[in-house]
Amino acid sequence: MWEYTDKVKDHFFNPHNVGEIEEPDGVGEVGSLACGDALKLTFKLDKNGKIKDAKFKTFGCASAIATSSVLTEMIKGLTLDEAAKITNRDIADYLGGLPEQKMHCSVMGREALEAAIENYRTGGKKKHELEGNVVCTCFGVTDKEIERVIRDNDLTTVEQVTNYCKAGGGCGGCQGQIEKIIEKIQGDKAGQLTETPPRWAGRLTNIQKIQLIQQTINEQIRPALRAHGGDIELIDVEGDKVIVAFRGMCAQCRLTEFTMKEVVEAKLREFVSKDLFVEEDKESAKEPHNHRG
Ligand code: FES
Repeated sequence: MWEYTDKVKDHFFNPHNVGEIEEPDGVGEVGSLACGDALKLTFKLDKNGKIKDAKFKTFGCASAIATSSVLTEMIKGLTLDEAAKITNRDIADYLGGLPEQKMHCSVMGREALEAAIENYRTGGKKKHELEGNVVCTCFGVTDKEIERVIRDNDLTTVEQVTNYCKAGGGCGGCQGQIEKIIEKIQGDKAGQLTETPPRWAGRLTNIQKIQLIQQTINEQIRPALRAHGGDIELIDVEGDKVIVAFRGMCAQCRLTEFTMKEVVEAKLREFVSKDLFVEEDKESAKEPHNHRG
């Protein structure tokens, strides 16, 4: 059973703007019944070029209905340039979040919006075309789309990619390629981080600092811990104190203190600020540890 927010439930039980606009300015159709989800989005512009009306028809689950409904609300009153900036993360956030396994519905909403805008801008002559090369033939997902969801949502595993765009969720034959795409993007990001001078403190807002800490954990620390069956979670940031919790094998390991100082703290000091220090979350530290090492 999925955990849905009140907003998701509200838009599922009382969807807004269901239907199809007559003589629309833009039409976007994505997904297919064969893949289990399909969405058709239509919009009409006012004389100032802003979206004055939008409607949707969808075949899908509660999340597909809720994301489509909320998307039609989000884009009303926007110019097409503004609407084009909406990401799947924005749609999911607007709903107060979606279950991870349902994030592909938010991606479908963003794709339908892009297709409708493209349809308007090309005078309706050009059909929405998939960019890039198809990696997942089971669901018709291209390398460009996979890269997009990885970058937009900071994904690090094949399972997450499947949750966000379905790629890899059929025969599994494309999972190796998806892994390579993830590695490539992580490599790109690590390169960018390395090129960026560390010692950011003083120039970062709190939000930027937290984002950089999370990014460093995702890209520099987590892969090494996962390779040994462990994991790490960022719990909070209080000034220069970074509170983390260890999971999996790391939570059972008596070398946690060493990992915290020599790996986690060292990386955060290298990539974020030399003033940071790391503490383990007190609540998770109370959990019984197995000291087999
Ligand atoms: S080719 Fe991607 S799951 Fe089958």
